[in-house]
Amino acid sequence: MTEEKLSGDVFYPDEETVAKARVPDWHALAAEAEQDYLGFWEREAKELHWFAPWNQVLDDTQQPFYKWFTGALTNIVYNCLDRHVATARRNKLALIWEGENGDFKSLSYFALRRDVCRFANVLRSLGLVKGDRVTIYMGRIPELPIAMLACATIGAVHSVVFGGFTVEALADRIEDSQSKVLITCDGAYQRGKIVPLKQIADEALHRAGTVESVLVVKRTGEEVNMEQGRDMWFHELMNLPIASGPCKMEIVDAEDPLFMLYTSGTTGKPKAILHTHGGYMVGTYTTMKYVFDIREEDRYWCAADPGWITGHSYIVYGPLLNGTTSFLYEGAPTYPYPNRWWQMIEKYGINIFYTAPTAIRGLMRFGDAWPNRHDLSSLRLLGSVGEPINPEAWKWYHRVIGKDHCPIMDTWWQTETGMFMITPVPSLPLKPGSGTRPFPGLQMDILNEEGQPVGTNEEGYLVIKNPWPAMMRTLYKDPEKYLELYWSKYPGIYLTGDSARRDEDGYYWIIGRVDDVIKVSGYRLGTAEIESALVSHHAVAEAAAIGLPHELQGNAIHAYVILKVGEKVHDGLVEELRKHVAHEIGPIARPEKIEIVDSLPKTRSGKIMRRVLKARALGQDPGNLATLEE
Ligand code: PRX
Repeated sequence: MTEEKLSGDVFYPDEETVAKARVPDWHALAAEAEQDYLGFWEREAKELHWFAPWNQVLDDTQQPFYKWFTGALTNIVYNCLDRHVATARRNKLALIWEGENGDFKSLSYFALRRDVCRFANVLRSLGLVKGDRVTIYMGRIPELPIAMLACATIGAVHSVVFGGFTVEALADRIEDSQSKVLITCDGAYQRGKIVPLKQIADEALHRAGTVESVLVVKRTGEEVNMEQGRDMWFHELMNLPIASGPCKMEIVDAEDPLFMLYTSGTTGKPKAILHTHGGYMVGTYTTMKYVFDIREEDRYWCAADPGWITGHSYIVYGPLLNGTTSFLYEGAPTYPYPNRWWQMIEKYGINIFYTAPTAIRGLMRFGDAWPNRHDLSSLRLLGSVGEPINPEAWKWYHRVIGKDHCPIMDTWWQTETGMFMITPVPSLPLKPGSGTRPFPGLQMDILNEEGQPVGTNEEGYLVIKNPWPAMMRTLYKDPEKYLELYWSKYPGIYLTGDSARRDEDGYYWIIGRVDDVIKVSGYRLGTAEIESALVSHHAVAEAAAIGLPHELQGNAIHAYVILKVGEKVHDGLVEELRKHVAHEIGPIARPEKIEIVDSLPKTRSGKIMRRVLKARALGQDPGNLATLEE
C-alpha cells in the first residue's frame, strides 16, 4: 500500500509490518465498511459461533436503544473457550500469570475451561440463575477472569469492582447492583505489601446489605475473618462434588446482559454501563484481531487491571475470543525494581504489549538503563490507552521499548463504547499523540455547540454518528440518564464527553474531557464522587473537586472544602481529609491538594462553578461570570 505523504511528525510502518499485517490496506477495509457497515459487522460475526443465527444485524426501531444480532442465540464463553477446546488450541496456553511475589501459574484453554466450568457449577449450586448480579472484587489473579467467565457461563451478570477501590466505592456498587454473591480474595500483593481486600469487603458489606454469600480466594494466606454461613473458601468449593461434572452452559439471547461496569460520569454516584453478549463479542473480537494484528503464536500482555473496561475487553474477552495467549501480572511495575515489566517481557517473550501513558511516563523517569538491560526483541507491537499520550512519552516508548520498529496502537475508546473506536492498525502511518482515524465502520465527527462540524484543527465535541455492536445498551436501572447524558445534546448522535480536533490529514487528536470527569493516571473519577467522600467526613460542610494538569498522572485532584460551623482548622486536618477520601474511594482518588475556604463560586441556582476554580488555580481568565452568585 502506498500512503499519501502526511504532514507533521509521521512514523511510517516498515515493509515487513505492512506485508504481514491482517489489514495491509486500511483504506480498502475502511472504504468497504463505510459502504455497508452492517455488512462489515455481519461478516465479522460469522467468524464466531452462534447457536441460532440472527434475523437482523441491527434493530434501530427504538434508537438510541439499539439492538444487535436480534434473535441470535449465543454465549460469549462458548466462543472464548469451548470453540478453541474443540480444536488444536485445546492445549495452547490461554493464560500465563506471575504474582508480584514470584508465584507462577499457567492455564491452557482446556484447563481454563475446566476451572470455569467447575466454578460455574459452584455458582449454580448457590442458587444463582440467569440475570442475577454478582460482584467481583479481587486482585489481578487468574481466579478473576475465571470468576467473570463462570458468571457469563450461567448467564449471571458480573459487576467487577477494581481492586484499588475501597469501602464506600465497593459498598455503593454492591448495593446498586443488588448482588447476592460477592467473589473476593483474602488479599493482593502490591508494592511488596498486602492490600487487605477481604477486610475492606467486610467493611463494605456492613454498609450494603444484599450479599448472601461471599466466596474467598486464598491468595496471600493471611488470617482473615470468615463469617459463618456467609463466607466460603473458593478452593474448598472447587473441590466439592458439586463442582465436578459437566456444566450446562446457559444459551442466551444476543441481547442478554453480560456485565455491568460502574464508571464515573458528570453527576452523582457512578452509574453502571450495561453490555450484552452478542454485540460486545463481535466488537471486541474484531477490533482485537485487526488492531493487535493477532497471530497464532502471539504472547500478548495488557498491563491494565481486569477491573476496568480495558481489562474486560482486552485482557479477558477480546484475547480469548481470538484464541490468544495472554499474560497477567499481579503487582506494581516498579516492584522490587523499575525493571520488573521489562524483565517479564523478556522472560515470557511477550510480542504485544499494551499499557497506559501514565505508566510509560512513570517508568521513563527511571531512565533507559532499566529497559536496556533486557532483551525486548520479542516485541512487535505496542499499545496505549486511557488518556492522551504526550509525544515525548510516545517517542520514548517507541525508541527505548519498541527499538524503533514496533508501531504504537494509541487506542481511544471508553467504558461505554466497549471496544476501540479511534485507533490505527499496524499498517497505518502514525503521528505521536494521535489515535489516527476512526475504526472501519464508524462514523465519527467533531461538532461545535450548534452541531456543525468544526473546521480543520478546530476544537469541538467528539461524537459518534452511527451505532456499533459493542456499544453500551443502557445505564443499569436508569434509561433516562442514558438518554440525557449521551444522546440529548445532539439528537440521534452519541456524545463522548471528550473534546478533540482533526488535522489536515483527517487524524484525530483527543484534547480531554469536557465534563466533570477527571482522568487521574488514566483512571476515571467523577468530581461528585470525590466531593461526596469529602462531605462524608464529620468536619466538612461542602466540597468542590477539580482536576489540574500533572506531569506524571495527566491530572491531579485538587479540592476546596468549607468546614461545618464550629469546626476549627487544625494541624493535620488536610492530611486527615486526604486519607479519608483514600479510605472511602481508594488511593487513586486521594486529592493532591486540599484548600480550606470560606466560600465557593456558585451559580444563582447553587451549582458550584468548577470552571472558575480551575481558572483561578491555573492563573487564567475565568471567562464569562454572568451567572456567578458570589
Ligand atoms: O477521555 C477519554 C480517555 O478516557 C475516557 C474513557 O475512560 P474510561 O471509560 O475509563 O475508559 C478508559 C479505557 C478505554 C475517554 O473519554 N481516553 C481513553 N483512551 C484514550 C483517551 N484519551 C486519549 N487517548 C486515548 N487513547
